[in-house]
Order: sequence, then structure tokens, then C-alpha cells
Amino acid sequence: MTVNSARAISQELFREDLLTPVQRDLLIAAMARKRMEYGVAGIEVFSNKMETLTKALDSDIPSGVLDLPISQLVLQVINGKQEFTSVQEAQTGRLVRAAIPVASGSRRGELEGVVVVETYVPESLLTKMEGIGRQYTAYKQIKAMKNPIKAGAYLFVAVVAVLILFSATWFGFYVARGITVPIQRLAEATEAVAQGDLSVQVDARATDEIGTLIESFNRMTQDLQGSKSKLEEANLTLRNTNVELDRRRAYIETVVDTIAAGLLSIDRSGMITTFNPSAERILGLAADRFKGRLANEAFKEFGLDSFQTAYDRMLADERDDLDLEGQLDIQGKLITIGLKGSRMRDEANKDLGFVLVFEDLTELIKAQKVAAWQEVAKRVAHEIKNPLTPIQLSAQRLRKKFFEKSPDLDRVFDDATNVIINEVGSLKQMLDEFSKFARLPVPQMTRQSLHDVVREVITLYREAQKDIELIVELDEDLPAINFDREQLRRVFVNLFDNAVQAMNQKGRLWVGTKYDTKRRRAVVAVADEGPGITPEDQERLFVPYFTRKKTGTGLGLAIVRRIITDHDGQIQVGNHHPKGAVFTFDLPV
Ligand SMILES: Nc1ncnc2c1ncn2[C@@H]1O[C@H](COP(=O)(O)OP(=O)(O)O)[C@@H](O)[C@H]1O
Ligand SMILES: [Mg+2]
Repeated sequence: MTVNSARAISQELFREDLLTPVQRDLLIAAMARKRMEYGVAGIEVFSNKMETLTKALDSDIPSGVLDLPISQLVLQVINGKQEFTSVQEAQTGRLVRAAIPVASGSRRGELEGVVVVETYVPESLLTKMEGIGRQYTAYKQIKAMKNPIKAGAYLFVAVVAVLILFSATWFGFYVARGITVPIQRLAEATEAVAQGDLSVQVDARATDEIGTLIESFNRMTQDLQGSKSKLEEANLTLRNTNVELDRRRAYIETVVDTIAAGLLSIDRSGMITTFNPSAERILGLAADRFKGRLANEAFKEFGLDSFQTAYDRMLADERDDLDLEGQLDIQGKLITIGLKGSRMRDEANKDLGFVLVFEDLTELIKAQKVAAWQEVAKRVAHEIKNPLTPIQLSAQRLRKKFFEKSPDLDRVFDDATNVIINEVGSLKQMLDEFSKFARLPVPQMTRQSLHDVVREVITLYREAQKDIELIVELDEDLPAINFDREQLRRVFVNLFDNAVQAMNQKGRLWVGTKYDTKRRRAVVAVADEGPGITPEDQERLFVPYFTRKKTGTGLGLAIVRRIITDHDGQIQVGNHHPKGAVFTFDLPV
């Protein structure tokens, strides 16, 4: 700008030819005007001889700035005949000077003078300018970088966009997988459960509702599995039990079918439910004529009185078991049967009916009878032989003395007849006992107190046997029962006699009664502290004529047993502690 102004002024100076000395005033005025016009700091015009023609200077410029040396610059222009510029540093700013030659109008190619236009750039402006300059450079640089930056930005945006897209997609997939995978697993597991596999567990990890769903599903399969295995276990146990029951039932059936005893069972409604092959054989009647029929009807039709009696008694007495011997007419043949009746109860003690077990005792009894009578015959022969010898000897002696006319005939006569009378007496006594046993009358039953009989016999023994201590324990709850007084007295007398004899008339004798409410029976025990009974003797004790005593008959216990069985009772023998024997019998209440 400074240069342009200087050139314009130089042109004007040349045109107007203002350098001529004549025009000096004009020049000064013109330059002052031009300085104002161009707004520069100063305009100085020099002649080609370096004389200062005019100086139009701005008075506002700080002093000293426009006094900076100028001659060097002017000399350069004069010598070089061309433009020069200079920039000089002042204390408060910078002075820019443009020196332009002014051509001469008269001499071609020669200089008329030099015009110097000065512009002052204050420090503040300089810094601003510098700042602007720097900014400009930066701007230019940036402008140069515009495209690469733009491209970079685009790239960056693109990369970020792609990244976002990827991550969004990935996130989407991730979230989707978080839902679909567990659901897929659940679906598979459900399928497995549907096919019966209850051991499946979904192990997909999820925390939200799907997690809860999976947890519930797992719990459900676990529960199902648990109950299924429990069910299977129960099923197995049941099957095993059934098999076991079947086996047992078959076994019991086999036992029932093969036992030698006849077996007949009656249920609670009175119907015959079992009738085994042995029963058919003994009674000579087919099972199908009994099974499924009412017991009362069947018994009546076939004349089975003993069965009817047993059944009636069990029904009436509410007792649990009974023993009975009876005779039956089976196809014109009289047989003796032993009947044992028992009430059947289940585990809860509920009544299930009755079972009757019976045996044909005909042959057994026959054999027993034969044996017994053989024994009786032997014994009787022996017993008769014993007194016969002294009788015979006495008779012979008497006869001899009589024919000898012996002087001591009187004494011998007396002796011999005495012996004969005594021996005949004992023979008679023996025969009495025998006929008593043979003709044991039918018991005359009356309801009375058993204790009365016991006390009666005790009184008898207290008086007769002073060395026997009698210990009596009677159960006062025992009600009156049915029995034949005379026969029961014989029972007690026989038992007491045996006990007293076993203890050699000296010792303690116990007698006690007890009421067995469950079995509804009166139980009586007689015990002593004698030598007791050996096991082999216990078997034979009750057989008629069994005795270990020199003067014994062996009929006492035989009679006792007969009486007790006639009363529907049973008698047993055992050993008493610490020593002695105990006889126990029971009677129905
Ligand atoms: N209380 C008892 N202690 C030991 N032995 C006994 C007792 N009671 C009976 N006996 C034995 O039983 C046998 C048979 O008795 P029993 O039939 O009364 O006939 P007897 O008394 O005539 O011998 C007796 O000989 C005796 O050996
Ligand atoms: Mg006796």
C-alpha cells in the first residue's frame, strides 16, 4: 500500500512537474494534502542531489520515529534508479518506507528526484498483525490440511459408525442370545421331560425372569424325579410284597393240602371257605359239597353233629379254642374224631371266623385201647398172682396140718385163714378200684364254686397230715363254673395223695387258682417239693397202671385226666422250682 501510494505520488509529481523549484510551494501544499489523502505517516521528497524538497509529516506519530536515518535509502534509489523499500524498527513501532524515483520530464532516463512514503505501524498494531499473520499462516496451513482433515473426519465418522453398528449388532446378538439360548435349552429340556427323562437340568445362566423360569423348571424336574423314584420304589416294594404274598399263599395252600389232618374253615358269615383233601378223605365227602355253603346247613345235611357242637360252642362261648372228641357215622361206619377249633384273628385282633382241625382217632384209640387193656390184663394177672401164692400156701399148710392131726392145728388154722381173708380182701379192693375206673359215671354238671371243693379237700388234709404245710392262693375273681363236685374232689384227692407220697408225708404243698380272663378258663395248679418227675415219666404218668410205687395202682392220674377231659379241660405236668412237681389243669368258665 505504501509502495502503491508512493508510485501514485511519484506519477503525479512527474506529470505536474512539481519538482521544479518554481513549483516549490505548490509541491509542499500538494504533499501535505496527499499525506492526508492517503493517510500515511509522512511523505518526504528529495531532489536528485539528495536535498530535501519537502517533508509532510504526521505530528501524531511519536517523536523520533520519523527522524530515523533515511539518506541511505534515498542514495540507493538515486544510484540504482529503481524502487527500494525499508523497514526500520523504532522503540514504539515500525516504520515502513517506500522510496520511488521520480522520472525527469526533460532528460530521458534520468531521475528528477525521489519520493519516500512512510507508514508507521505502532507496536500494538504490530503485535496484532503478527497475531493475525500467525493466525493467517495457521489458517493457510489448516486450509492446506482441509481436505486431509475432512477425509480423516469422514474416515473417523465412518469407523465410529461401523464400530457402533458392530457393537450394536453384537449387543443385540448378545442380548438375544441371553434370551434365546436359555429358551432353546428350556425347550430341549421340556422335550426330554416329555419323553420321560426326568433327570434333565437346564444349566443356562440367566438372572431375570428367564432365570426364575429355569430355576422353577429345574426344581420341577427334581421334584418330579424325586416323586417318580419314590413311586418306583414303592412299586417295587409292592411287587416284591405281592410276589412274597403269592409265594406264601401258595406255600400255605400246599401245607393245607398236604397235612394229614382235616381242615375246615368258616368265615364270619358262617360260610365254609376251606375244606382240604384230608378232610375229604376222613369224612368221605367231596370238598365241593362244603365249600361256599353255610356251615350250619352242611353239618346238618351230612350229620356232622360233633362239628355242629364245636361250632355252636365257639359261637356261644366266644372262646378262642376248644378240644372235642366225638363220634361220627361215616357211611355206616362209626369213627372217633378229635376236633380242635380255633378262632382266627387278624393282626388288629379282628374276628375272621373259625378253623376246625380234625383227625380220625379211631385207629389210634383202638390201638391205645388194645395197649391199655394188655397193660391192664398184665397188671391184673400180676396183682391176682401176688395174693394167690400166700392163699395157696396157706391152704396147703392147713391141709397138711389137718391130715397130720398136728397139735398146733388151731394156731395154724387161725394163721392160714387170716392170711386167706387178708389176701382176698386186698384182691377185692383191687377189683373195686378197677371197676371204679371202668365204670366212671358221666359227670353231673352244676354251676358252683370251685374254691368250695378246694377248701373242703384242704381241711381234710390239714387234719390228717400234720407235717404237711399247705399254702393256698385262690383268685377271688374266679366266677362259679360248671363241674361235677364228686369227680373234682377225686381229682384233688388224687393229686394231693401223690404229692404227699412224693414228699414222704413231710413238706410244703401249694395249691392255687387263677382266672384267665382272655381264654375264659379257670386254671388250677397243685405243686410240691418232692423229687419231681423225670421227662420220660412225664409222658407216661397218665397212662393207666403206670406206677413207680410198690403198692401203687397207677390209676390215680389216669382217672384225673379222664375227669378233666370229660370237663372239657386239659392237664399238664411240669417241674416245680427249685424242686418238686407241679400239675396244672384248666376248666372252661
Ligand atoms: N407229685 C408227684 N411227684 C412225683 N411223682 C409223682 C407225683 N405224682 C405222681 N407221680 C408219679 O406218677 C406215678 C403214677 O401216679 P398215679 O397214677 O397216681 O398212680 P399211683 O399213685 O398209684 O402210683 C406215681 O407212681 C409216681 O411215680
Ligand atoms: Mg396215686
